[in-house]
Amino acid sequence: MLEAAFHFPPDFRWGVATAAHQVEGNNTNNQWWAWEQNPGNIRAGHASGLACDWWQHAEADFDRAAAMGLNTLRLSVEWSRIEVAPGKIDTAALDRYREMLRGLRERGIEPLVTLHHFTDPLWLSEQGGWLHPHITRLFSRYVEQVVRALGEFTTLWCTINEPNVYSVMGYLRGRFPPGEHDQGKALRVLRAMLKAHAAAYRTIHSVQPQAQVGLAHNMRCFDPARPRMLDRAVSRWQDRAFNQTTLDAVWRGKWTFPLGWGWARGLRHTLDWIGLNYYTRDLLMFDRHAARERYTRTLHAPEAELLEGDYGELYPQGLYRALRRLDRLGIPIYVTENGIPDADDALRPRALILHLHQLWRALQWNIPVRGYYHWTLTDNFEWAEGWTLRFGLIALDEQTQERTPRPSANLYAAIARGDVISPSLVDVYAPELRPTLYLEPS
Ligand code: FCB
Repeated sequence: MLEAAFHFPPDFRWGVATAAHQVEGNNTNNQWWAWEQNPGNIRAGHASGLACDWWQHAEADFDRAAAMGLNTLRLSVEWSRIEVAPGKIDTAALDRYREMLRGLRERGIEPLVTLHHFTDPLWLSEQGGWLHPHITRLFSRYVEQVVRALGEFTTLWCTINEPNVYSVMGYLRGRFPPGEHDQGKALRVLRAMLKAHAAAYRTIHSVQPQAQVGLAHNMRCFDPARPRMLDRAVSRWQDRAFNQTTLDAVWRGKWTFPLGWGWARGLRHTLDWIGLNYYTRDLLMFDRHAARERYTRTLHAPEAELLEGDYGELYPQGLYRALRRLDRLGIPIYVTENGIPDADDALRPRALILHLHQLWRALQWNIPVRGYYHWTLTDNFEWAEGWTLRFGLIALDEQTQERTPRPSANLYAAIARGDVISPSLVDVYAPELRPTLYLEPS
């Protein structure tokens, strides 16, 4: 049997990703908190509540991340805490974030700060949210305050998390606030977010010239269910709408179908790096009876291993495919999110190794992947799915706040500490992968 260790560069960034509303607790001043109060909006009637209690005790989890040997951590700051009313900044909230970022630095962990991760201040959503006519100016004003206050501790900024998911889930599928089903609005919101991203890119650089500014883009694989023309057509459509058009706007500076046509003024090359959030793939089939679903039915490959809670297929190759695609931009790439829901940790060790192996493959082609942020450190409030999906390396009992590391936490720590997936780690955590990872040459 051939033995191979899969090595990563010594300066590779190993981290975990989180978002304010999912971990801080008591974020009562945003549109998600309001949405959680209405029965039926969140699975099992759950609510974010105290979440992981980070607003008071984030440092205890920072200790855990440091003990795992992680050297970076992605977190977001909560607009509704910082700008409590239009133009009214709460300096105590900014001080708390300064304290958190200082705490990360003291532990040898570089913060990557996301400025918008799904939540909007209530005052903004009451005025139309991302459909507000002056949203670009409002967002930039907030961003400037944050960068002035926190720039001492980081140069790594992510403007907006997953504009495509925010617009689709909130305005097309109605699963996120404001719960609408309106394609026209979904496209307007997406355009607004991309314009605001570009303006924020410039604002950040004007405050902090050495800043490294990116966007976290959710890419999903869409493959035709059958080798038929119409299945191919719906897959291509989905791929354009969900994956490609955002990149065309912020990299090529062009509005492309279905987002629009022509030059996207001021948007070209507004990325110093691109963030990839990758989870799964869908197989798509044309269905002439499904007009409301844009003639598309979603299936899973018959041989696919399915993830908990109907989350989709385990499809690690999709990470490699997305990275190859992003390589065309010619800028550094961070995997800003990747993980699976798995309360028992039955599949996660294998999934983690397989995804990191695909990332390693991309590195062999000199694709400039600089870091990987696992979603996530401890179980947290999973938006419309409430507490039903458990993505944490560490299990959380949200009632008692008790934390219990899952085996995957030790596995990830060992990989991060050694910059390597070694055969002995495979043997301990996922021996069934031996034949897949160590093929005998024939
Ligand atoms: C992503 C979100 C993140 C988390 C994961 C599971 O789409 O950015 O907040 O909920 O999914």
